[in-house]
Amino acid sequence: MTSIQPHGGTLINRVVEGKAREQLLEVAATLKQIRINKWTLSDLDLIGVGAFSPLEGFLNEQDYRSVLQSMRLADGTVWSIPITLAVNEEQAAELSVNEQVALIGEDDYVVYALLDIQSIYAVNQLEEATYVFKTDDPEHPGVQKLLERPSTYVGGSIQLLNRPQPAKFNEYYFDPSETRRIFQEKGWKSVVGFQTRNPVHRAHEYIQKSAMEIVDALFLNPLVGETKSDDVPADVRMKSYLVLLENYYPQDRTFLGVFPAAMRYAGPREAIFHAVVRKNYGCTHFIVGRDHAGVGDYYGTYEAQEIFTNFTAEELDITPLFFEHSFFCKRCGNMASSKTCPHGKEEHMALSGTKVRGLLRDGQCPPPEFTRPEVAQVLIEGMAEQVTSS
Ligand code: ADX
Repeated sequence: MTSIQPHGGTLINRVVEGKAREQLLEVAATLKQIRINKWTLSDLDLIGVGAFSPLEGFLNEQDYRSVLQSMRLADGTVWSIPITLAVNEEQAAELSVNEQVALIGEDDYVVYALLDIQSIYAVNQLEEATYVFKTDDPEHPGVQKLLERPSTYVGGSIQLLNRPQPAKFNEYYFDPSETRRIFQEKGWKSVVGFQTRNPVHRAHEYIQKSAMEIVDALFLNPLVGETKSDDVPADVRMKSYLVLLENYYPQDRTFLGVFPAAMRYAGPREAIFHAVVRKNYGCTHFIVGRDHAGVGDYYGTYEAQEIFTNFTAEELDITPLFFEHSFFCKRCGNMASSKTCPHGKEEHMALSGTKVRGLLRDGQCPPPEFTRPEVAQVLIEGMAEQVTSS
């Protein structure tokens, strides 16, 4: 059985159901409303179901400052990414601490939650960017998103009354309480979590399967929330994961479930966040390869691994599995890394993401040493559909 404790010791559940929910919905109708975008809605939902345990709401000022400066909540619990609710200045001026407000959807006006306001605070976004992303360059996709938001935050605990409904692949959405139960029912004592925002290429498969040699099972947990526009869309990726698992993975030791969070591209800090959240889903191990959650050349190849030295094994309580940059070596005739291959770069198959996307767009499969043909086929079809629908 996976006996791993949620982060902070308790799996948070802020979902209100039944009669209590109906009553709170009536209360909500009398309250001021804050409209939240899709990104914030995904954070809200993940707080509600405990994926972000121990958070019970959006960070208050004290926790926010502590997270920026020390990658910990004010009580010392490891937490590396600020999860915040931004409101515009005019609205913030009308709100007060201790007030209860309703959080409603940007497009659908659904009341998703109640928020008990604990703190209202102005932030310096460039300072936040420098702490979280290690840069305040507005070209960085995470910084860009941050700078688009208002710079007043409202913190406080939430009660979730409605859940966002996935448009597709409903059956692959599991809450942490469900994945924990499923892993237990399957009798898995150790489960390695794998974060990805990409199709699973051979290098990903290699590190996953290397990890699978030492644990009971793999939790393939692709991030399907907001990503930057040139990343492969989540529904195309989902099809590619399904065809890959069906053909190349043991069904009884692999589990696919999505992570409906937004991608921050915060590299090292996001690696810590990704690991801690996967612990909440019931993973005992977590894969961190090269340039985890990185973008462009903002982070060093192994910075997302090095950051783990800031924390003790006890306080993280999930075992990171670090992997070197992996590739196919023509001389070895297999996947390898600099740890296992003695040959020079000229023997290694190197394809940039841009080159691979170009091939797929032209309807050509990348070499099978890079991408499984079944996966390439799905990606080619996905790209063609995107072109016709745009
Ligand atoms: S990420 O933004 O979600 O980290 P990606 O989907 O590319 O991006 O990576 C998923 C995981 O695989 C990350 O842990 C990343 O470090 C790792 N990874 C990706 N490509 C390689 C590679 N060639 N060699 C080793 N690890 C890799």
